[in-house]
Amino acid sequence: MSPQTLSVLGSTGSIGTFTLEIVDKFPGQFRVVSLACGTNIEKLISQIEKYNPQVVSVGKSDEISALRAKFPKVKFFSGNEGISACLQTEPIDVAIVGVVGFAGLYPTVQALKYCKKVGLANKESLVVAGTLLQKEIENSKSICIPVDSEHNAVYQVLMGRKREEISSIVLTASGGPLLRYPEMKLDEVTTDFAVNHPNWKMGPKISVDSATMMNKGLEVIEAHFLFHYPENQIEVWVHPQSIVHGALWFKDGSCIAQLTKPDMKSSIGYAMKYPDRLDWVIPKLTFKEMAKLEFFEPDLKRFPCLRLAREALIAGPSYLVVLNAANEVAVDLFLKGKIRFSDIPTFIEKQLKQHETVGLGHLEDVFALDQEIRNRCSN
Ligand SMILES: NC(=O)c1ccc[n+]([C@@H]2O[C@H](COP(=O)([O-])OP(=O)(O)OC[C@H]3O[C@@H](n4cnc5c(N)ncnc54)[C@H](OP(=O)(O)O)[C@@H]3O)[C@@H](O)[C@H]2O)c1
Repeated sequence: MSPQTLSVLGSTGSIGTFTLEIVDKFPGQFRVVSLACGTNIEKLISQIEKYNPQVVSVGKSDEISALRAKFPKVKFFSGNEGISACLQTEPIDVAIVGVVGFAGLYPTVQALKYCKKVGLANKESLVVAGTLLQKEIENSKSICIPVDSEHNAVYQVLMGRKREEISSIVLTASGGPLLRYPEMKLDEVTTDFAVNHPNWKMGPKISVDSATMMNKGLEVIEAHFLFHYPENQIEVWVHPQSIVHGALWFKDGSCIAQLTKPDMKSSIGYAMKYPDRLDWVIPKLTFKEMAKLEFFEPDLKRFPCLRLAREALIAGPSYLVVLNAANEVAVDLFLKGKIRFSDIPTFIEKQLKQHETVGLGHLEDVFALDQEIRNRCSN
């Protein structure tokens, strides 16, 4: 069988790197057609040398001439034009969207338009434009498979079920690096501490989101738009072992969950090979590892971001754009040492309180509101 054609958007990041590790592990199964990244040109160069893609997109056009001189056979582009070129040069069987933040919205929309299968890791696109993307997904010939491990778990468990039998969906949360330090004062949390996640190797933005628990808030919203359950039927349980990723409660009292070792290659590989499965993309979980599984209710006083995300979901779509933009700005300021960790929820809540509902009929409205909030945050 000929290999599946693959586009990796966000190839230099954590999700992109895991995706390419799967390509390495299963020679002949995938052919890398295109790669897109932002600014990490050194890592991109090593990926071009190894995978020999036809098309490459970078964040800024000023990098292109040096890259063209080094790789004359590769077509280089930048920005949105580059993302489109990555997906249209030849038919793409599977695109993995691992671009971080709001910047992932355009790649997500394009991937849904042009690719047979989209492995969607970027959660912010569903947060800011969930209703519009739901329509894109319904009208698109492309299959959208969530790569976020919790949503991938729910996707797998939901398959073939009757909606009316299900009472709620469950997303687990590792609790992030602060879980083991209940006494730590939140205004003393350093950037190094916040980005050092105990279970998962992730990029800096999602690692901080995980420490504030905004990540789980974004995931509740993501689950709402992916699976069409209301906010009050999406449970969150802190589960420090990160072995149970997601579950469904059925009205007869049964719970069916999906379990693996904590390794993103499981859900990325699932999306890449869907509807089949790769053989041992990650090692088998043992019952010994499952012997001690803990679950706690999240502490919403210590981690108000989860509450803010739930409130924004109830308040309506434009509040979700505000939540996301304010969070991205706040996390960036924290990573640059300009605000304290404990300032992040206060910063976001202030923006949410100032907002009044606006309609978001088109993607352009989402881009405009996102920009407006970022401008307001910087004043
Ligand atoms: N990492 C995980 O385990 C994990 C789990 C579940 C969901 N996710 C979601 O997956 C997404 C990626 O997370 P990550 O941890 O992989 O982030 P990351 O390590 O920071 O990587 C982000 C990737 O996006 C690229 N990028 C940023 N801005 C771009 C732009 N304007 N155009 C093109 N590429 C751009 C970056 O390129 P440069 O580095 O070259 O600038 C990098 O390749 C996030 O939405 C996250 O929430 C991640």
